[in-house]
Amino acid sequence: MTGTAPVICIDGPSGAGKGTLSQHLATELGWHLLDSGALYRVVGFAGRLASVSLEDSDAVAGIARSLDVDFRPTSDGVSVWLAGEDVTVHLRTEEGGRDASTVAALPAVREALLLRQQELARPPGLIADGRDMGTVVFPQAPLKIFLTASAEARAERRFHQLQGMGESVSLARLLADIEQRDARDQSRIVSPLVPAEDAIVIDSTALSADEVLQAARDLAAARDL
Ligand code: C5P
Repeated sequence: MTGTAPVICIDGPSGAGKGTLSQHLATELGWHLLDSGALYRVVGFAGRLASVSLEDSDAVAGIARSLDVDFRPTSDGVSVWLAGEDVTVHLRTEEGGRDASTVAALPAVREALLLRQQELARPPGLIADGRDMGTVVFPQAPLKIFLTASAEARAERRFHQLQGMGESVSLARLLADIEQRDARDQSRIVSPLVPAEDAIVIDSTALSADEVLQAARDLAAARDL
């Protein structure tokens, strides 16, 4: 581990509420925030821009290594800049999620992004949101939370989110997508989506965002973070 600051890892499947929890915790503690999913999304996006096959490991890993990416804090998270251009709106789409999951299954891509993520552990601390923060990227972290929820609850949350953005989507399609992405994330050979042995699992199916935040606050306080 190359960073020098404490890290709180928030891992778990898509739609469990990791992003919201991570943003609130980072704001409350005044810590940095790593949205590692955005890093995989931007690699997928850059791959499409370069017209390479997202399954071409050498080509995509080359893109990941030379990625000119910058994360800038905004009022509701971070904006992502690729080669000096704000590409945030292109990343948070269903297609962006699928592409991210495709490139994330390539070991060479994960390797290329490892150090970049570890270097973000700077004082006063880092909230690291992802799938393998506690298992691979920050194994020494003093607090690892694995936030999960039923696939149905996650699909419904995403459905309301997309409806709020004026997008018409089918709940059944969203559920199928989530189940497919979970299966791919859990079964890949490198960094599969599993809780770290020392992670604390929070199931948010029946909890509000505030209740999840309070549970995380209590865990952090118990560790003097
Ligand atoms: O968190 P988000 O939905 O933005 O992540 C998009 C995809 O990127 C995930 O479905 C997963 O396949 C991949 N990912 C990953 N490891 C991470 C973060 C995201 O494999 N640490």
